[in-house]
Formats: sequence, structure tokens, C-alpha cells
Amino acid sequence: PPVVARTLPALRRALGDLRRRNASVALVPTMGALHDGHLSLVRLAKRRATKVVVSVFVNPTQFAPHEDFGSYPRTWKADASKLAAEGVDLIWNPDVKTMYPEGFATRIEVDGPAVAGLEDRFRPHFFGGVATVVGKLFLQVRPDVAIFGSKDFQQLRVVTRMAGDLDTGVKVIGAPTIRERDGLAMSSRNVYLTPEERQVAPTLYRAMKETAKQLRAGKSADASLSVGAKMITAAGFSLDYFEARHADTLAPIHSLKAGPIRLLVAAKLGKTRLIDNVAV
Ligand code: PAJ
Repeated sequence: PPVVARTLPALRRALGDLRRRNASVALVPTMGALHDGHLSLVRLAKRRATKVVVSVFVNPTQFAPHEDFGSYPRTWKADASKLAAEGVDLIWNPDVKTMYPEGFATRIEVDGPAVAGLEDRFRPHFFGGVATVVGKLFLQVRPDVAIFGSKDFQQLRVVTRMAGDLDTGVKVIGAPTIRERDGLAMSSRNVYLTPEERQVAPTLYRAMKETAKQLRAGKSADASLSVGAKMITAAGFSLDYFEARHADTLAPIHSLKAGPIRLLVAAKLGKTRLIDNVAV
């Protein structure tokens, strides 16, 4: 079974053991409540390094006071056995006081097109919290590579920017989105959906695929997006955003010739907020 570290001295000791014989280290940051999407990152990590460290930490600084930090699913026992079955070497599972001791006062803020709009408009505290905790994880674990899912596409771009800007030396690798058979992107928050909402939820992916198809057929961005947006709202979602952005920079895109395009969506179904994205 993997070593479980819950304090910084325990983490240092475990990392010292791992690094003997020049092992390379991959880090997979998670908030637990692990599903096959997370496990796909672990499998990719195993191919990219000799040792795999998975962090399991529900990070309070990326939740606003009205958000679901308190009710976020915590399934430690199931998580630990899934990670053991994947052959993970080390689980880093600090508590909040270890990550943010009394007096903690530092924050990493990423600026620029990667944080212009989209999630940042609806969760203005979010990327600062993510950049800060991921920056700390990189300093604590000092991995060679770190794996992030494309499911959270803007997060992947923000973390890549931060890792480069701060000369962390960590190579950030993006992994594909894992979906249920009906197209719904796997997410720890899918457990919040009622059975009725769960039936409707795959509409998000279907609408993005329809919009991508229309774009590829030469229809304008505005017209294609509005077809998808109508599918989403007709299914009962309340739409936060549905946009076409440059896939690399996330800059707003006005012409289809401006480069590779990513469609990004966020919408609420009842009390549950879902996000997803596809390449065009
Ligand atoms: P969490 O939501 O637990 O996700 C951990 C990682 O799993 C992220 O990189 C996310 O993009 C990836 N992931 C989630 N669902 C996926 C899916 N269906 N397919 C592929 N990858 C998927 O994202 C976070 O935690 C946090 O913000 C974190 C980065 C850990 C910082 O607290």
C-alpha cells in the first residue's frame, strides 16, 4: 500500500525514501472523492515518472463562503483503496492547519488572458486559491511533472502559467477528459445531481458537440454558439457562460481562423454547477 503522509516532516521523510536511486516524481493534485477521471491521471503519471505522489486535500481557499466546502464529498477510505490498487507510491493528505497555519498570509494570483472571464467571472476567488495551493504543493513535493485534467481546462491553463512564471521547473501535463457512457464528464460533484437531473446532464456535452459541428461546417461563431446555448437552456440548465476561446491562450476569439478553438461551458442544473469543454 502507498505511504500516507499527513504532516510536513512525514512528507519529507517519505519523499527522501522515494528519491533514493534518482527516481523521477509525478504529482497528481486532487481533492479526493476519486473517480475514473482522477485515476486516469494517476495512470498517465505512472507512464511519465518512476514514482507517483497523489495529494488529497479539499482546499478551503478556492471555495467562496457560499460554496460547497463544508458539503464537498469526502470519501477517504474509498480513495485510499483506489490509490493502493493503482500502485501509487505516496499519498499526501495534510489537514487544513498544516497547509494554512495560523497567520498564513500569502497568495499567488495569476493574471492575463488565462484568467480573463469564464470561471473567474463567476468564482473570482477561485484561481487565486488554486494557484496558491498548487504552488504550495509544488514546493512541498518538488515533482518533476504534475498531471492536470482537461476537464478543468481554464485551471490547466492557469496552473501551467503559474508553474512557468515562478520558475518551478515542474512540467505541467494535461490529460484528456474522462466521460460517462452518455457523455457526461466525470466529476466529484455529479453525486449532487438528482436522478432526473442526471438524465438531463449529458445535454451539456451534446450541445458543445453540436456547436463544434456547426463551426466546422463554416457557420459563424455567434450563430453556432446560440444553437448550443438554446439546447442547454431548453434542457433546464441556467447558463453561466458558453464561449469559444483560443485553446492555448484562452483569449476571446472573433474569427475561426484565429487559431485552435476550445468551447467552454458552465451551467447550473438545480443546485449543481457543472463545467465542461471540448476542442473544435
Ligand atoms: P479535483 O476536482 O479533485 O480534480 C483533480 C484533478 O482531476 C484535476 O486536474 C481535474 O482536472 C482532474 N479531473 C477531474 N475530473 C476529470 C475527468 N472527468 N477527466 C479527467 N480529469 C479529471 O481540480 C481540483 O481537484 C483542484 O482544483 C486542485 C487542482 C486539486 C487544487 O485544489
